[in-house]
Amino acid sequence: MFTRGLEVPPTAGLPAHWRDALPPWNAGLGATAATYVDVDFPLLPVDSGAAGLLIALRTLADLDGQRKAVVIPAYTCPLVALAVHQAGLQIRVCDVVADGFEFDTEPFEKLCDQDTLAVLPTHLAGRVTDVAGIHAIAKSCGAWVIEDAAQALGARSHGQSVGLMGDIGLFSLGVGKGLSTYAGGLLLARDPYLRRALTATACRLLRPHRGGEAWRCLEWLGYLALYRPRGLFYAYGRPLRRALRHGDWLAAVGDNLPPLISLQRMGRFRSSVGEQAFARLAAFHIRTEAQAQDRGVRLQAIEGVQVFQDATGGRGVWPVLMLRLPSEAIRDAVLRQLWGERLGVTRMFIHALPDYPALQHLILAAHVPNARALAATTLTVSNSLWLDEAGFTKVLQVIAEQLSSAKICDKRHRDGKK
Ligand SMILES: Cc1ncc(COP(=O)(O)O)c(C=O)c1O
Repeated sequence: MFTRGLEVPPTAGLPAHWRDALPPWNAGLGATAATYVDVDFPLLPVDSGAAGLLIALRTLADLDGQRKAVVIPAYTCPLVALAVHQAGLQIRVCDVVADGFEFDTEPFEKLCDQDTLAVLPTHLAGRVTDVAGIHAIAKSCGAWVIEDAAQALGARSHGQSVGLMGDIGLFSLGVGKGLSTYAGGLLLARDPYLRRALTATACRLLRPHRGGEAWRCLEWLGYLALYRPRGLFYAYGRPLRRALRHGDWLAAVGDNLPPLISLQRMGRFRSSVGEQAFARLAAFHIRTEAQAQDRGVRLQAIEGVQVFQDATGGRGVWPVLMLRLPSEAIRDAVLRQLWGERLGVTRMFIHALPDYPALQHLILAAHVPNARALAATTLTVSNSLWLDEAGFTKVLQVIAEQLSSAKICDKRHRDGKK
């Protein structure tokens, strides 16, 4: 069991290695990423996933001067909404299906019209969602498809990397993602014309920023030093427990938004550390996948637990196991016992997008019951290799106990009514 002073991270990120920092600092990240996702053109490195999304949206808006609306899932990272707004476009949130992260087709069709510039199917939690149906609807109204694979670098659908089914794909290399440059992202597009347009927009919008890049390098060095169980106790665990004590759920999951998405160019050092780390990523994904398969089955065996899975033909990656419990009360009872316990149990996002106070002036009130249910009833269990068997068994026990006491209460309640 985890001893005092150690902490499991909330997601399985590939640990940095000091050798990643050695020169020569070639800016070869895009080419190495291309080999990894098996395409014959380099990916475009950007300062963050959100910056990449902003660049993608500005590129499409410049190509298509008329359309202004972007359809995004109502349950996704709030930075996505901020990127749409910062790109000068209009946010349209769409509810998700009842049992997953895909757009619900009925409201989605209504949101796709002559004004729709782009839609963003999203592979959340490393899970592969079905893009084909969404793609067909989007194309029938003339909208572009940006595949948000920020949390899914390495995931594959029908044998090819995610990010290639739409017009543009997006990966995040942010902290806690499979491969991290602390802050970073990658864009890809099959169409050479679109690739040139993305590069041109990136050159126009991204500014070299000496002080900013020096700060990013320091952040990465901090990540190198602290992304291990003892360092995480101080860098992640202490602020988490402080936030929980104050009931500040947004701070607890890092959902607080910056005023603006930073737009600086990724420098050679960051590019180089990302490039070196790619050499270890495939082996890491094999190990985390094996652990997730085993633990997913054990969690799913508890009556009342749903473990989110890939759509047909998908082979995702496993930063976390995302679970749905039968009610908000049971989910919250589990979190009361586990959230601050150093075992990597937490929540993905706190709200459906329309419910973030910071986004309310940007998003029209929307009927998104399934997204709200996701926010209310899900939690994540870290798939970090540092969550040992004893720690995972404790997670299993707490969830099983809470579900069985909820069942007993239910039965008493029903008996009382007879
Ligand atoms: C689904 C999704 N899209 C976009 C982003 C933005 O990526 P970044 O944090 O690299 O800006 C995130 C961040 O976690 C995300 O989860």
